[in-house]
Amino acid sequence: MHGKDRKPLAVIEEGAMILRGWALADAEPILFGVEQGLLQSGLRQMLTPGGKKMSVAMSNCGAWGWVSDRRGYRYVSKDPETGQPWPEIPAALFRIAQTAAAKAGFAHFIPDACLVNVYVPGARMSLHQDKDEQDMEAPIVSVSLGLPATFLFGGAERRDPVKRIDVEHGDVLVWGGPARLRYHGIAPIKMGDHPLLGARRMNLTLRKAR
Ligand code: SIN
Ligand code: FE2
Repeated sequence: MHGKDRKPLAVIEEGAMILRGWALADAEPILFGVEQGLLQSGLRQMLTPGGKKMSVAMSNCGAWGWVSDRRGYRYVSKDPETGQPWPEIPAALFRIAQTAAAKAGFAHFIPDACLVNVYVPGARMSLHQDKDEQDMEAPIVSVSLGLPATFLFGGAERRDPVKRIDVEHGDVLVWGGPARLRYHGIAPIKMGDHPLLGARRMNLTLRKAR
């Protein structure tokens, strides 16, 4: 799972798989669609419930958007900054999420939420579980674009050992079933220059929130 081992398909554990390059051919239409949405609902650094500003800049597309502030984490149908619904999930992204989920063994995945995470060098995401969704049957599908990153894939408990998985532009991670509530995070992004995204990494996390 590390370093130069770039097998197109690798099982991380039961229910969790990395599909390397799965989104590569569609990266440009996906990026274009997401950036269109960001013109409407822009990126923002949200506050943790403890009041700290996250290093990752976020927005959403889809019927439901994940937000964090002093009141906690939750899904909302309108962008609190604009009062308007979140932009739609770009068709190319929806399709990639569905085909990746199916390939990983989760047929008929219908995401209704896509969190857009944008990292600059030094930005990171600490270990957490995705547990604000109502439907734990549906998997999480996570598309990486731009600068490479080290995805930290942990266990059922925060203290469990963590696997370090290199994720590059076009890679898709899927986790669900017995792996649905795994702790995960992103190590600090290293400086770099990506042809499409410059010194940024974009992650698109598709979920079924409701
Ligand atoms: C997340 O867990 O929300 C983000 C993971 C990633 O950036 O790959
Ligand atoms: Fe997450």
